Amino acid sequence: MTLKLATAGESHGPALVGILSGLPAGLVLDREAIDADLARRQQGYGRSPRQQLEQDRVEVLAGLRHGRTLGTPLALVVHNRDHKNWEWGMSPWPPEGEPSGKGTKPVTLPRPGHADLAGTLKYGFADTRDALERASARQTAISVAAGAVAKALLREIGIEVSGVVVEMGDVDEAKADRDTVGGVVEARARGIPPGLGSYATKEDRLDARLAAALVGIQAVKGVEIGAGFELAGQRGSEAHDEIFKDERGLYRKTNRAGGIEGGVSNGEEIVVRAAMKPLPTLMRPLQSVDLETGEPAEALVERSDVAAVEALSVVAEASVSFELARAAHEKFGGDAIGDFVAAHSAYLERIPWTAR
Ligand SMILES: Cc1cc2nc3c(=O)[nH]c(=O)nc-3n(C[C@H](O)[C@H](O)[C@H](O)COP(=O)(O)O)c2cc1C
Repeated sequence: MTLKLATAGESHGPALVGILSGLPAGLVLDREAIDADLARRQQGYGRSPRQQLEQDRVEVLAGLRHGRTLGTPLALVVHNRDHKNWEWGMSPWPPEGEPSGKGTKPVTLPRPGHADLAGTLKYGFADTRDALERASARQTAISVAAGAVAKALLREIGIEVSGVVVEMGDVDEAKADRDTVGGVVEARARGIPPGLGSYATKEDRLDARLAAALVGIQAVKGVEIGAGFELAGQRGSEAHDEIFKDERGLYRKTNRAGGIEGGVSNGEEIVVRAAMKPLPTLMRPLQSVDLETGEPAEALVERSDVAAVEALSVVAEASVSFELARAAHEKFGGDAIGDFVAAHSAYLERIPWTAR
């Protein structure tokens, strides 16, 4: 059974929901570890006051008993505490009483760079809020919760994943200009056995899967595997990682491939990077057109981050973790966590040359 994550939830709706299926039974989960990752996603330089308002916490509705997975779908919920200000505006059913709170008036000023225009045209909405509420990166909270579960599974076989910011625009300057900035984040995974993913089909390639996991995050517009774009300008003699052997086994002196060759993990650290564009909601709005009148107008201004690069590093860590957990579970399988761990150990015994 493969790991799958189905999600639902609007940015200012009642809650974000995730159903994670395919987990082995008996995996111990730590609520505080999941909440700690949710808190990390909310921190960082350049984020809006909404983050203090929310203080996300995970709630588990199914698939867990006394902290251990049951092998059944794990139902995760993260409530939107801000929903109390949007109860009328984001009511799932036709709202009762007089309009009150936020989101009561249709928004017709699409922000360039956001899903507002394309989403509104695609679905035939009269209010861009019907598109932007789901397109918003608020839903990355549930990816982070699911990623924390994936990290628990990976830890069982000694894999650790971390995400960091490697490049970021000047937030102070951008804030003063009422502008936004982007940046670059990196995710690394240590303890990866050789053999995750496959060259058999393009869907199975681990590099393709990690790239899709990263570009699947809002505002990510570029991905690098290992040395990535730099390799294009190098000679073969300087671009590849030569193979050596000592009494402990095979090893490399470099890792320009980022731990993946032929779409398969090669046992080295996995290194992937994602480039984030500057956020599309500017306090000094960009030029747009009012979809109600057809007249030129300034784009919507809504409470928004100046930068979310640090948050992206946490989301990238979670998304990479989920994909690696999926690939690891495909390889080692197991209905019970012990089966998964035993299959991993037996595999390492089969390839002693690389067990460093
Ligand atoms: C963690 C995170 C936080 C974000 N916060 C904001 C924000 O506050 N304001 C904004 O305009 N865009 C924000 N974005 C980016 C938008 O969600 C994204 O640009 C938009 O959904 C359009 O999708 P696209 O950029 O992938 O084309 C954020 C993205 C991430 C990953």
